[in-house]
Amino acid sequence: MTRTKRWWFDDPAVKVLFTAGGASSYRGLRSHFLAPRTLVGAEALKVFFESSAPLFASRRVLLVTDEGMRSEAQKLISSFQKEGFGVEMWAGVAGEAPLSCIYEGVREAEAFGPDLLLAFGGGSVIDVLKAVWILYERPDLALNEVHPLKPLGLRKKALMMAIPTTSGTGSESTSAAVITDDEETPPVKISLMHPEIVPDFAIIDSRYALKMPAKLAAGTGLDALTHAIEAFISTWSTDYTEALALKAARLVFQYLPRSVASAQDREARHKMHIAGNLAGLAFSNAAPGLAHSAGHAFGKLFQVHHGIAVGLFLPYVLQYQSKVTSRGEQMARELGFTRNGEEKPLQVFLERIRLLYREIGGPLSGRELVDEQMFAAWFDELCRMASEDPVTTVSVRPINETGYRRFMEAVYRGQDITA
Ligand SMILES: [Fe+2]
Repeated sequence: MTRTKRWWFDDPAVKVLFTAGGASSYRGLRSHFLAPRTLVGAEALKVFFESSAPLFASRRVLLVTDEGMRSEAQKLISSFQKEGFGVEMWAGVAGEAPLSCIYEGVREAEAFGPDLLLAFGGGSVIDVLKAVWILYERPDLALNEVHPLKPLGLRKKALMMAIPTTSGTGSESTSAAVITDDEETPPVKISLMHPEIVPDFAIIDSRYALKMPAKLAAGTGLDALTHAIEAFISTWSTDYTEALALKAARLVFQYLPRSVASAQDREARHKMHIAGNLAGLAFSNAAPGLAHSAGHAFGKLFQVHHGIAVGLFLPYVLQYQSKVTSRGEQMARELGFTRNGEEKPLQVFLERIRLLYREIGGPLSGRELVDEQMFAAWFDELCRMASEDPVTTVSVRPINETGYRRFMEAVYRGQDITA
């Protein structure tokens, strides 16, 4: 299958730049840290109204969500209306953020003319709105013309707020939007990246995450853990991202089993909501890793939830990267899983991750998720898609399609990565 469109990651200059940026000699050179104005807890919206409402001249909010959150969104609408905002809701977001849905959202925005775009939902809802925002502000552009190194000039028509209702995608704080180009056959997952699409406001209120079913809490929690660990290993990490990644990982290990076990455990749900946000900030300001390139392809081809897919690859990626970096071992030590001088810190780290997976029903091998025939039928496509994913270029340890074939086979069988 060949894509008909060219995207930013097809630019040879980007490939060279990203690959160079992934080299370990460059660690610590990143000089910026991007984050939304982040308001946390039950008073978060109140603080927003008090401090930021004057920023909005026409006070028109387009609230974007999906069908499942429609009734929950009513309370939010009332809160905004009480503060004198005109609110229109569009609950048309479809899973996987397809282009067709994004175009529909743009039509809604153009018809209403909001100066605040509000995403209320999980990662797909937030990602759809980021893409809608770009096209609402820049009708002259096609999404495949968005390039992270070329200014977009957003924020002339609207600012963006994100209120996550799941705990782990971190999209409320990131400069990425994962969308699906459903104009291709078969549809292709695309990572849009641009520093200007970091939302202006993130509302981190765990009351909105109390309705997450256990499976979703587990999947999004594994996404958060993967963001934290991949951000720590990334050569784009800085002192800021390192601090965030460590705290996020600590919270996941401590609270994810409780959050999955009971939606009534408000403390655990709150801590996981914080963990998801911290991990999102960490990986957006460092870089994701191979669990994401492999997970994007695996999740797309076999319809596996993003967090479960990246979580599946995470321990194997730690093994793979350990041949060129000791960051995984360092993280294990920093998390207190092992002591300095202990013989095999990576092994201890992997055991701790597997223990967590057993507690929450996380996958330990690919065959727990996909049957053998299906895996064999799509194996070539899986490895090709993973090798073409832009995240592959920022890997600490390079990998090509042949490398992916060995890697995917081992993950499917649950075999250690030894080379
Ligand atoms: Fe992720």
